[in-house]
Amino acid sequence: MSGEQIRLLVVEDVPQVASHVRSLLNAQSQIKMLDVVTSGDRAVPSVSEMKPDVVLVDALLQGRVSGQQVADQIRKAEAHVGVIMLTVPQNPVSEDPDRGIDAVLKMPFSGFDLTTMIRKVAESRAVESSRSGSLVVTLFSPKGGVGRTTLAYNIAVALGQNHRVCLIDGSLQFSDLRGLLRVPAVAPSIVNLPTDRIREQDLGDVTWRDPSGIDLLLAPPRVEMAEMVTTRDIEKVLSLLRQLYEFVIIDTRAALSEDVLVFLDSADLILQVLTYDSMAIRSLAMAGETFQAIGYPPSKIATILNRSDASGGFDKADVEGAIGSRIDYEVVSDGHLVLASNNEGIAFVTSSPESPIAQGVSRIADSLAAHLAERSPALTRR
Ligand SMILES: Nc1ncnc2c1ncn2[C@@H]1O[C@H](COP(=O)(O)OP(=O)(O)OP(=O)(O)O)[C@@H](O)[C@H]1O
Ligand SMILES: [Mg+2]
Repeated sequence: MSGEQIRLLVVEDVPQVASHVRSLLNAQSQIKMLDVVTSGDRAVPSVSEMKPDVVLVDALLQGRVSGQQVADQIRKAEAHVGVIMLTVPQNPVSEDPDRGIDAVLKMPFSGFDLTTMIRKVAESRAVESSRSGSLVVTLFSPKGGVGRTTLAYNIAVALGQNHRVCLIDGSLQFSDLRGLLRVPAVAPSIVNLPTDRIREQDLGDVTWRDPSGIDLLLAPPRVEMAEMVTTRDIEKVLSLLRQLYEFVIIDTRAALSEDVLVFLDSADLILQVLTYDSMAIRSLAMAGETFQAIGYPPSKIATILNRSDASGGFDKADVEGAIGSRIDYEVVSDGHLVLASNNEGIAFVTSSPESPIAQGVSRIADSLAAHLAERSPALTRR
């Protein structure tokens, strides 16, 4: 929601009230009033057409469909849309998100009351719907070459066997996944999204179906095009992808830059990757301090030790001490298999599922699946 205009639809059959709301909102630019729908039976079709973030509904709506029914219908049809019920003191209404009432606004109200409530509902609804049934996982390392792209692809394919998965190539300049998977240059990318308001139906045109069955949201085909992708576009895309996929897995470039931070901020879980390499250990320790300063809770971060059998004289406990966190997963080296699979652009979790390296990756995938199941009991499996 941050930095973006909130779209408001008003369902109101009293013209004076509608124009009062409009005049209060005229004084600001954060909330855009899309339209006024004057009868309850047109509310849901208007919501699906105009894609508001919040709908203000008059509880005393006259006609066949009451205000309460409108709220109920919106919640059932478009669960991500927030609903504020507008009423008068003589007709008390209580907040009841299960029946579509996220907040109640009583007349008379000031412009401040109105905008504050709209903002609050838009934010909490966005969080609520993003929390239901999806997990955004960002692979991160400040040091290059530790295996993020290889792991991201294989984790995504492993999860794809039982879940809807979208893998994002967050390596925006060099598009690692394009390289790995030998995707044709004509394949669409994140830059093909419309720049103004990105909608759910636009996503189908820009994702690329990998033969493994997962969808890819690719980075642009040319280095300089990375600049065309804004932080806001990324945020918007992620919030839409959450509604369509159970897992959004993000590969990033080796940096703690603004673009990478968007992927980290939006993540439910950061999988930080390192190897037994003094540079990787040192840079991860430094990044850890930054994460702490930003305020990421420790539960947001898990650590993968890649090539865990190549210790190079290091001790696992020493590494944990140095980075200030536990190593949660270990994936062994298998130069031969990784090289062969990466060169063919296939996942070793499907070509050699019994190999120790694939088993290591599958354990990560299984624990992500368990994590998702914990958060969304009503999970729908493919
Ligand atoms: N567990 C492993 N065993 C053997 N080789 C591996 C393993 N993990 C990664 N590799 C190899 O290490 C190299 C780097 O891997 P990858 O490209 O996945 O890392 P990255 O962190 O995404 O790198 P970059 O900084 O270029 O984005 C590749 O050649 C890959 O084949
Ligand atoms: Mg990479």
